[in-house]
Amino acid sequence: MTILLNNDGYWHDKYRAALAKHLPERKVVEFDDDYDKADIEYALVWKHPDGDLPLYPNLKAVFSLGSGTDYLDAHKALPTAPIFRLIDPNMADDMALYTLYWIIHFQRQIEVLRQQQRKAIWQRYPTPLAHEVKVCVLGQGAIGGHIANVLSRNGFETFGWSRSPKSLDGVNSVVGLEALQTVLPDMDVVVCMLPAKPLTHKFLNKDIFERMKKGVSLINISRGSVVDEDDLLSALNQGQIGAAALDVFAIEPLPKSSPFWGHPNVHVTPHMSGATNADTAVEIIAQNIKLFEVGTMPNYRYEREGI
Ligand code: GLV
Repeated sequence: MTILLNNDGYWHDKYRAALAKHLPERKVVEFDDDYDKADIEYALVWKHPDGDLPLYPNLKAVFSLGSGTDYLDAHKALPTAPIFRLIDPNMADDMALYTLYWIIHFQRQIEVLRQQQRKAIWQRYPTPLAHEVKVCVLGQGAIGGHIANVLSRNGFETFGWSRSPKSLDGVNSVVGLEALQTVLPDMDVVVCMLPAKPLTHKFLNKDIFERMKKGVSLINISRGSVVDEDDLLSALNQGQIGAAALDVFAIEPLPKSSPFWGHPNVHVTPHMSGATNADTAVEIIAQNIKLFEVGTMPNYRYEREGI
């Protein structure tokens, strides 16, 4: 009845406390502890070393402590036990609020106002109404769909791009590349929620940026590898992209030498638009373990082929 915990070095204490609260009867060991692999029945992991999980002979299920699966896609050896992604409505909400924050920041030209304040300049600008601001969320999975929904509920004219049609209240469903190319020139803000997959690698590149409205704002909260960062830098320098809020990068932590740090039109945040909350994550996982133990497969099972 032992649980293995490995959250890539982050917030052990919070996870320990959450496990004690939601799974009080289970023994918990951490990856670096001394334990017998045969005792482990469940693993709660994030960026666990490739090849390790198949070595646990009694492993029943693996619960990833995040939503993205790119680190699993990169693994050569996966266990036979099922793996489940974490889809936490709190994380989706958190990411939606992060997105909303930046959209309002761009809509209200907060950056310009900050600069004016430094020079004691009292100068007003007309603010477009929310419904006059067009936003496209690329990727309409569980989280991307929720973000689009929140933006629409806040009055923004919202579009959601996905491979198959989605019907979300107040969200204009955009399906396929051709349709995306048709709507892109009208968008004021583009939000990237595309997962890192071979098909999406550097998908946001010069060709796509050139399709966008001059001065568009970009928010990336999925993965850095979805963006061609050299092309993004050129697009920012040319003003094709007016501003960017970047939470994710091809290399993390973002190297100190990266030009994004000092770019006047870039807002860098350290991959925290929707950090896993230990308490709510473990609560969801505890419910899933209970389901699993009565023979019901929890939702969001990871499939290696899935995009
Ligand atoms: C974080 O990036 C996640 O995928 O949960």
